[in-house]
Amino acid sequence: MPGLCRQFGFLILFLSATATTPFLNLRQAADPAHLLVGAAVRPSLFSEAAYSETLSREFNMVEPEDAMKWWTVRPNAGTFNFREGDEVVRFAQAHGMKVRGHCLVWDHNNPEWLAQGGFTPPQLSRLLQEHITTVVKHYAGQVFAWDVVNEALDENGRLRDSPWYNRPGIGLADKGPAYIEQAFRWAHAADPQALLFYNEAEGEGLNGKSDAIYAMVKDFKRRGVPIDGVGLQMHVPQLEVDTGAVAANIARLTALGLQVHITELDVSLPLNISGPAPYPARPDDLLRQATIYRGIVRACLQSPGCTAIQTWGFTDKYSWIGSHSHGARGAALPFDRAYTPKPAYDAMQEEISAAKNRPH
Ligand code: XIL
Repeated sequence: MPGLCRQFGFLILFLSATATTPFLNLRQAADPAHLLVGAAVRPSLFSEAAYSETLSREFNMVEPEDAMKWWTVRPNAGTFNFREGDEVVRFAQAHGMKVRGHCLVWDHNNPEWLAQGGFTPPQLSRLLQEHITTVVKHYAGQVFAWDVVNEALDENGRLRDSPWYNRPGIGLADKGPAYIEQAFRWAHAADPQALLFYNEAEGEGLNGKSDAIYAMVKDFKRRGVPIDGVGLQMHVPQLEVDTGAVAANIARLTALGLQVHITELDVSLPLNISGPAPYPARPDDLLRQATIYRGIVRACLQSPGCTAIQTWGFTDKYSWIGSHSHGARGAALPFDRAYTPKPAYDAMQEEISAAKNRPH
């Protein structure tokens, strides 16, 4: 009998050692971690089977890369074109995904007619209020969160020149971030349910710019400006990031009662452009890239108020980095050009899987 017990004991030990937890993809892992995992998308690519299948399998959130920007929505002063944005919403609804809207106020990606129109501040104010009101109402109940203002600060944390701020601006040029505040108030009036974000680049860690973002949103919160969160873009152009500083910045923002979304994560690599295209990345760079992805995902997951992690695209086949870097960099995303998961994907998947039941 004791021998039999010992044999059973060994069997149980053996079985528990070999029992593996089932593999969860990003989306499956994100739900129990109370996390939105998203990707920026181009609706013209939904017809590509591998694109749609990968997207709907792996992500529970999408954001239009360009389809809700001024240059798409406002072909001329008198027209709103929601065709592309509506395609994104339909795709998301068909696959049970949330939609993040991007973006209502930016000095980039505006139509020619706006820049060349010679509008006065009162005219620009009316145009912006009409734009925010019409777009946010059109997507009310469909877009759960908006980047209301994008990249309003320069690298030193000072307000950037913009048609909305001071070129010539909407009439608040001498009042600091008052134009930003006004945009949030208009967006809130159009859809009181939507979460409203200030989205910014290069202020992810601890630096002068992130200090300026922090000071601005702290003041907004104190004065009751309707802001719900800060979007940290997280375009990483080098293979070293102080992810501890990112975690500290996320912690101080969420301590204000704001949510943080990582909104545009990609980690671009130098490409070996001596051979034939498509140019490959170096294998060791792919591993270093994975380490950065891991650190950033972990930094978010440490703060319960960091509620979304989104990559800017998801396959290296379609990424803005190629044109942005004139071909010198690329391979920035978690799936390669053939939609095969890269080490960066594995890193995200492992970190998110390990965060199940995190506090929220
Ligand atoms: C980029 C898009 O990816 C490109 O397709 C477009 O040509 C230019 O804009 N920060 C942002 C995004 O907030 O809107 C930008 O997207 C990338 C930088």
